[in-house]
Amino acid sequence: MKASDYEKLREEIMTCTKCVLHRNRKNPVPGEGPIDAEVMVVGEAPGRREDELGRPFVGMAGKLLDSLLEKAGLRREQVYITNVVKCRPPGNRDPRPEEINACIPYLITQIRIIRPRVIIAVGRIAASTLFKLAGLKWRGMKAEHGIVYDAAIEGVEVKLVSTYHPASALYNPQLRGVLEEDFQGPIRRAVSQQTHRRRTLEDFL
Ligand code: URA
Ligand code: SF4
Repeated sequence: MKASDYEKLREEIMTCTKCVLHRNRKNPVPGEGPIDAEVMVVGEAPGRREDELGRPFVGMAGKLLDSLLEKAGLRREQVYITNVVKCRPPGNRDPRPEEINACIPYLITQIRIIRPRVIIAVGRIAASTLFKLAGLKWRGMKAEHGIVYDAAIEGVEVKLVSTYHPASALYNPQLRGVLEEDFQGPIRRAVSQQTHRRRTLEDFL
């Protein structure tokens, strides 16, 4: 059962000590959103604000993410939002490969339970991790951002698309335009195709 599987997973994350990141966290950040969401956003790791509140993308980068989602025709509440690692790395350093390896089974289980149609990977770490899970070759953000792939992750068929991390646009205003174009263009099209397809199929059935 979806709801009880999800609750079990959530509890596992809330008490997890599988990697060193558990030592400095205030709160694990499992993720939030409907468990039947059609769209999933995957970021890198919780930041300071996320660690304090136990919720993903609630700081400055989160505000920008909300407005980018709007450009793709999505409200934040429709989307399931999570990260590759669920606990904040000290000083916001990049999560290490062994930490990603320890935490990745949680993301895989989230994908299996939620079965999203579209996964938006934001930032290099989320994108390269998801590409690896999908068996796709990662050629770097410059080449890959805004390209929508038909992928299968652990048997779940998804449209996988990557773009820059919203936090990077806070430091580099030029990237904001690129992010907006990705959300307004390819991401919006992938989302509306997928949700349209589901609606048509339901009408037909
Ligand atoms: N950056 C991320 O990658 N994830 C968050 O949840 C917040 C900021
Ligand atoms: Fe567990 Fe992931 Fe937190 Fe590491 S980051 S302690 S693996 S939940």
